[in-house]
Amino acid sequence: MRMADDFPSPIGIPDDVAEALEPVRFGAGAAQVLYFASVTSTNDVAARLADRGAPDGTTVVAELQTAGRGRLGRAWYSPPGAGLYASVVLRPEIGPGSISDPGGRDRSSLSLVTLAAGVALAEAVRRCTHLPVEIKWPNDLVVGCRKLAGILTEASGSDGIDYLILGFGINLRPAAYPPGLADRATSIEVELGRAVERGRLLAECLASVAAWNDALRAGKAERILERWQSLAPSSRGARVEWAAQAGIASGVTEGIDRDGGLLVRTDDRLERIIAGEVRWLT
Ligand code: BTN
Repeated sequence: MRMADDFPSPIGIPDDVAEALEPVRFGAGAAQVLYFASVTSTNDVAARLADRGAPDGTTVVAELQTAGRGRLGRAWYSPPGAGLYASVVLRPEIGPGSISDPGGRDRSSLSLVTLAAGVALAEAVRRCTHLPVEIKWPNDLVVGCRKLAGILTEASGSDGIDYLILGFGINLRPAAYPPGLADRATSIEVELGRAVERGRLLAECLASVAAWNDALRAGKAERILERWQSLAPSSRGARVEWAAQAGIASGVTEGIDRDGGLLVRTDDRLERIIAGEVRWLT
């Protein structure tokens, strides 16, 4: 793929990473990975590549991001070496029963991609580190009550979904986080007491995303939902509060629905939270 003049130039994939990636397949072929020293956001670069026809599974990795972003318009602090910053181009199949099915299943299918990504990445980090990684709604990876990784899925397409960008940031080692973040974040190095091989971690992540992507295409939505909930014990029986229209509301979690909404039992009804911030009280 030829890069435009204003496009950041990829650098060679470091040998250790290239070696770990060698056996990884995505769909029918080898996973295509482009490695950058510095980008604004790997999601931006992946989206530009997708606009130019980059195939399903094309992955952008960067040593640092100057404008990494998270959910709810927040910044994702991305200093060099402290995290694995990566974005994968996912191309849903077009046609009946696919995730771009014009029969109105787009929204739940899009949520399923995000849920499948959470499962894939949680399993990959677990496999690589043996840490008791859990998912916390909407799709954070946590160890205990500290966040280890975040996932940002962004969709593009005017009539149906052309492509999705699955961006993930995994904290590898402690960083000088901005105030307010330090006590809520953790890293693989802090939890394990040693560093992890980033090439192996990336390879596990891509292989796992590819496998769960295949499960999604094979129509295994129930399996994805079940696995997500088993990796997210706090999605059942945890006390939460959130800002509702009438003020602060609270209740106890009762799982998620197919659209990825969090179900919460309050005194008098079952609420469905689809976005925004939830405060976990237990
Ligand atoms: C969140 O928890 O708020 C989601 C964070 C997602 C961060 C990753 S880092 C790689 C990719 N590029 C970005 O700009 N964001 C995602």
